[in-house]
Amino acid sequence: MRTIAVINAKGGCGKTTVATGLASALAWEGYNVALADLDPQCSATDWLAERGEDYPEIHAVSKASGLKAPAGTDILVVDTPAGVYGAELSKLLNKAQTALMPLLPSPIDMAAAWRFLEKTLTLKPIASKKTKLGLVANRVKPNTIVYRELTGFMDDYRVPVVGQLRDSMNYVRAFERGLGVSDLPEYLAGEDWGQWDDIVRWVKSKRSMGSA
Ligand SMILES: Nc1ncnc2c1ncn2[C@@H]1O[C@H](COP(=O)(O)OP(=O)(O)OP(=O)(O)O)[C@@H](O)[C@H]1O
Ligand SMILES: [Mg+2]
Repeated sequence: MRTIAVINAKGGCGKTTVATGLASALAWEGYNVALADLDPQCSATDWLAERGEDYPEIHAVSKASGLKAPAGTDILVVDTPAGVYGAELSKLLNKAQTALMPLLPSPIDMAAAWRFLEKTLTLKPIASKKTKLGLVANRVKPNTIVYRELTGFMDDYRVPVVGQLRDSMNYVRAFERGLGVSDLPEYLAGEDWGQWDDIVRWVKSKRSMGSA
């Protein structure tokens, strides 16, 4: 089974949006997907509870189970709370072949993301490539100066930016209904589908798979 952890100690950068969105995008690809919610605020669990039967199924994995997904699960997506770093993060990453880090291209968030990224790159699972890390620029408004700075900042660290998600009410509206943008119709979310295609392509590639 493949495990993908969505990480960033900074609150509100889009971890739950990316974790639930990825679970839904991968479920549409035909994978048997499970979603674990490590956040005591339970946003991902609440999201899953709203999800109707008309959409590809995503199984819930409780924190209490110790990330034990149901038999037959292809991919387990793990949503993590804010404030997870250091030894606690390392322990989690040991179980994940892939980590996705959403970050917001705003000056305040980038300063925090920079510090988190520097610390995270020194953690053993990442340093030893047991876990491969990819960044997702979230709530992107194209052609803004901060976005250009963000792409430069990634190059310095040699961490790939594997996708960007635009700032869109589609995320807010979909989330309330237990959906990802992949569950919305193409006439509403065609642009978002295209952005998720890039992330899914990376997740499917060998480049994104560590040996954990
Ligand atoms: N691409 C986007 N477009 C519009 N709104 C977004 C987008 N991504 C996230 N949001 C909104 O930003 C808020 C924070 O997102 P989210 O809950 O996913 O962050 P988080 O990192 O999980 O936060 P926490 O650290 O508190 O768990 C939510 O209200 C969400 O709907
Ligand atoms: Mg969250």
